Amino acid sequence: AAPALQGAGSVKQQISNLVALSLRATVPEVDVEPIVEVCTGKFGDYQCNNAMGLWSKVKGSGTSFKNPNAIGQAIAKNLPACDVIESASVAGPGFVNIVLSKSWVAKRIQDMLVNGITTWAPILPVKRVVLDFSSPNIAKEMHVGHLRSTIIGDTLARMFEFSNVEVLRRNHVGDWGTQFGMLIEFLFEKFPNWEELGSQAIGDLQVFYKASKQRFDEDAEFKDRAQQAVVRLQGGEEKYRAAWKKICEISRNEFDQVYKLLDVQLEEKGESFYNPYIPQVLEKLSSQGLIEESEGARVIFIQGHQIPLIVVKRDGGFNYASTDLAALWYRLNVEKAEWIIYVTDVGQQQHFDMFFKAARMAGWLPDPKEKKFPKTSHVGFGLVLGADGKRFRTRSTEVVRLGDLLDEAKSRSKSELLQRLTENGKIVDWTDEELEQTSKAVGYGAVKYADLKNNRLTNYTFSFDQMLSDKGNTAVYLQYAHARICSIIRKSNMDVEELKVSGNISLAHPDERVLGLYLIRYAEIVEEACTNLLPSVLCEYLYNLSEMFTRFYTNCQLLGITPVYKL
Ligand code: ARG
Repeated sequence: AAPALQGAGSVKQQISNLVALSLRATVPEVDVEPIVEVCTGKFGDYQCNNAMGLWSKVKGSGTSFKNPNAIGQAIAKNLPACDVIESASVAGPGFVNIVLSKSWVAKRIQDMLVNGITTWAPILPVKRVVLDFSSPNIAKEMHVGHLRSTIIGDTLARMFEFSNVEVLRRNHVGDWGTQFGMLIEFLFEKFPNWEELGSQAIGDLQVFYKASKQRFDEDAEFKDRAQQAVVRLQGGEEKYRAAWKKICEISRNEFDQVYKLLDVQLEEKGESFYNPYIPQVLEKLSSQGLIEESEGARVIFIQGHQIPLIVVKRDGGFNYASTDLAALWYRLNVEKAEWIIYVTDVGQQQHFDMFFKAARMAGWLPDPKEKKFPKTSHVGFGLVLGADGKRFRTRSTEVVRLGDLLDEAKSRSKSELLQRLTENGKIVDWTDEELEQTSKAVGYGAVKYADLKNNRLTNYTFSFDQMLSDKGNTAVYLQYAHARICSIIRKSNMDVEELKVSGNISLAHPDERVLGLYLIRYAEIVEEACTNLLPSVLCEYLYNLSEMFTRFYTNCQLLGITPVYKL
């Protein structure tokens, strides 16, 4: 494959490279990493904070430097001449404040306009990531937790992909396990013609699941058959495999509807996929002496944990943990991923913590202190709460159907739109298609953004009113800023391509410079969001950017159009 188009990395990265050169010239005897941050004060755009640390390394070693400030001065002086930096000054105990050259900032923006946003991709230290997200369970409820996982996972995937990292988007669906015995027997019983069933024929799979569970709990003879069905399924008996497939297919159909609404791509490799690998993986761990017998089960004892990680149940069956071990082995050795990321609610943190430790004990992963790859990360997230402060449920049913939820967001935004169009007394010539597209963008966008904007570990309250509001930090606010930009472009009566090359970015006005500087931080923001697996970092950036744009737009003349829009 052709190498991906790579830019020069983030601005911070480029400044760091320059600082590294200066450090080598300033203190050739010491080897240090450049410490570069965005400047919080007024005296610069970025700052280098190496002087104090260097001082403590060189003082008393006969250095000619008198104090950290002197080191700072030397760092500033030794910055190579280039078109990036306009000036550098030193403050206090050696902070080097760096002011970026306006023309360089303008050029970077112009470059992006002409050559595309990919020129602003950060450079990340990995090439291939496995992102395990969404991952609902067959025939069970796909709940708001799975919605969070889907939204957060997809966002992370997009950010990595933007950064030229190959992402294997994995849907680790719960499609294996003892519940299938009961489901299969119930299918045979309820639908003698099950082979001909279409993907919607069973109706509601969750209801089906509940009914079969009830049957299982109440009828000993059924329970017996269900248990035998598990054995026959796992033994690979044709009819049982076919029934299992049918049930998975029906579930998949339901999941896919949600993915389609949200425009999420995923490749299903469910638990069943890894099942054949479990015996050999456990065999390896066993031969390393990691697996022990405990109360009839086979387990791995892990330091710092009271209970061991069970990998073979007392009945000889495999479980969630053995599947995850096999999947990790596969992802490391067959898929050769360098970073394996799991997106689930924080409730599963202990599971991930334990099995990551088990993998380290087996030597699959380096010690996290070494900060090396391959590595694994659990991306945990908090609960979605209802207005009552309890776990989110809709009024009528005890479960929240995700498709319904998204539909409601869309229809609410549609009626809001309709109302606004009539309220203003204007006859706006929107086609049905436009109305539909806009209410989708606003409605689904609102659900996604409400989920992403907070630190993922915090619980958040699900409120249509809040997420669809045009005030405050919401999707609509960002979309409005975007729409305004599009409208300016339209009013210019120029072709976008033409506009990209003809515009002369001067950054003359202070608000324009602020906006320009913030714009070019995009790469480092994506880099930070990927490194710390925090989509909220990008949301915060976009929100600030929209605000800065509004200020710029209010205070600077654009194309001679006086801004008269009302939010
Ligand atoms: N199916 C699980 C659940 O619904 C999530 C699976 C997450 N991925 C994994 N490799 N364990 O809770």
